[in-house]
Amino acid sequence: MLSTWLTRTAGLRVPLVNAPMTPAAGGRLARAVSDAGGLGFVGIDSRDEVTSVRDQVTLARAGRPDVPLGIGLMAWVLPSRLELLDLVLELQPTFVSISFGDPAPYVDALHRRGILVASQVQDRESALAASAAGVDAIVSQGTEAGGHTGAVGTLTLLQIVLESVAQPVLAAGGIASARGVAAVLGAGAEGVWVGTPFLLAAESRVADATRSLIARSREGDTVLTHVFDVAQGLAWPARFPGRAIANEFTAEWHGREDELSSNFGALERFARAKREGDVTLSNVYAGQSIGLLANVEPAAAIVARLMNGAEELLRLRPASILSD
Ligand SMILES: Cc1cc2nc3c(=O)[nH]c(=O)nc-3n(C[C@H](O)[C@H](O)[C@H](O)COP(=O)(O)O)c2cc1C
Repeated sequence: MLSTWLTRTAGLRVPLVNAPMTPAAGGRLARAVSDAGGLGFVGIDSRDEVTSVRDQVTLARAGRPDVPLGIGLMAWVLPSRLELLDLVLELQPTFVSISFGDPAPYVDALHRRGILVASQVQDRESALAASAAGVDAIVSQGTEAGGHTGAVGTLTLLQIVLESVAQPVLAAGGIASARGVAAVLGAGAEGVWVGTPFLLAAESRVADATRSLIARSREGDTVLTHVFDVAQGLAWPARFPGRAIANEFTAEWHGREDELSSNFGALERFARAKREGDVTLSNVYAGQSIGLLANVEPAAAIVARLMNGAEELLRLRPASILSD
């Protein structure tokens, strides 16, 4: 069995978190991951209504009210959406992540409700800030990750974060096989924070056209861009571009975001494509690990493949490479 700070603290059977991903990571996926022994997270988007978040958490907890559960918030959203923080305090999940900005203003309130706090960081500076804010776990998020992320690679960043903070560290970005899990646990991470592979989980909220695009895409097919934030009018801080599968829209507008913001024809074209689920123009956020993924599977099968395989590697590999 794999036993780490994360399994012991959150009462898990495996040190794996399904990353909060909006809108893909809803209550059904979170529940499936927690039932498989990990920690299921529900993601909250800047535009989500309180009622829809409540519905997803109800789904996750159906028939098992004490299931380990996480909820993901974004720091840059909270000042204008404090009702989301109030909701999370009321729902009292096991873990809350406050990512993409300083978690400091929210940590005490969460701790007073007995909620553990995690924060994703993208460089040494943000790791030190999250550490000083008193979060319980720091998630080292490499640039390989899907969705909004930073510029430093997973392995480089993990080494930097492990040597910079005293808190337990979880590793995120590009982890999609047993080898990836074994590598970061071997390096000192207390758990893995896995997003992109769960886009292909049968329980995720992902449309069929998106699933087949992910399944046939390769590791070089993503782009780190602001295009889709501009297209959707979202006020993401400039230091967090989003990694998405490159398509006709990014080919035309990546690097020309200023022009895009005032091109109403292009914005309308994007909005229509999004409504119609046309992935040749609309956003499909996904990480470089799409190069390792090809099949839709139940979440439990993904958890088992990653974690059983990692346990075996962590047992066998040292014996084969260490000599007296
Ligand atoms: C489709 C998608 C949506 C995401 N949405 C969020 C989000 O709402 N909140 C958040 O904290 N992180 C979000 N992320 C980032 C994940 O939390 C995580 O860092 C990332 O998925 C890990 O890397 P991987 O995708 O290579 O597994 C998202 C990632 C993806 C792929």
